[in-house]
Amino acid sequence: MPQNIEADGNQEFGFTRREVVIGAVGFGVSEFTWGSISTAAAQQPTTGTIDYLDRVPVSMRVNGQEVAETLDPRTSLLDFLRETRGLFGTKKGCDHGQCGACTVHVDGARVASCLTPVVQCEKRLVETIESIAREGQLHAMQQAFIDHDAMQCGYCTPGQIMAAIACVREGHAGSRAEIKEFMSGNLCRCGAYENIVSAIEDARTKMES
Ligand code: FES
Repeated sequence: MPQNIEADGNQEFGFTRREVVIGAVGFGVSEFTWGSISTAAAQQPTTGTIDYLDRVPVSMRVNGQEVAETLDPRTSLLDFLRETRGLFGTKKGCDHGQCGACTVHVDGARVASCLTPVVQCEKRLVETIESIAREGQLHAMQQAFIDHDAMQCGYCTPGQIMAAIACVREGHAGSRAEIKEFMSGNLCRCGAYENIVSAIEDARTKMES
């Protein structure tokens, strides 16, 4: 458990906040003296760190499977998926919420997993690119990306596809302009944007039929 932050935080001054309050109240009504502060300070521990590394239990459903782990609470959902679950389909691009390569679904909504603390996914449903093909059949969006050659290096593609599925489900794929607007958080450094938009238009008709 974290140690007493109040005590540690005032070590450089040699006394705790509690002692200052008691001292302030005590002036004039008790035998409080600066000497007593010095004595109290001498009794304070002089070493110790705040332990931010206490691990916490986290459980959720990932791609239809119940998982439970004990983790550093600072772990991102992205690192959890890749490093703990071995789901390398979700890509780390910028790791700062700017490129969309890490897009996954949490309770059906798209999120940047690099910015999502894994502890926020407690008891929630997480879906990654590995889960969207069913019984050996590609998702309509995956097939459309292939049919329209909507990729070049492919690094951003899993995030593009997860975002594109959400874009259609949200009802934000009504026109090419709308698709561009609502896919603007997913960058493709190869510049396959026109083909990506065509793929989403194509997949939309299949997803909605
Ligand atoms: Fe998450 Fe770029 S890796 S947005």
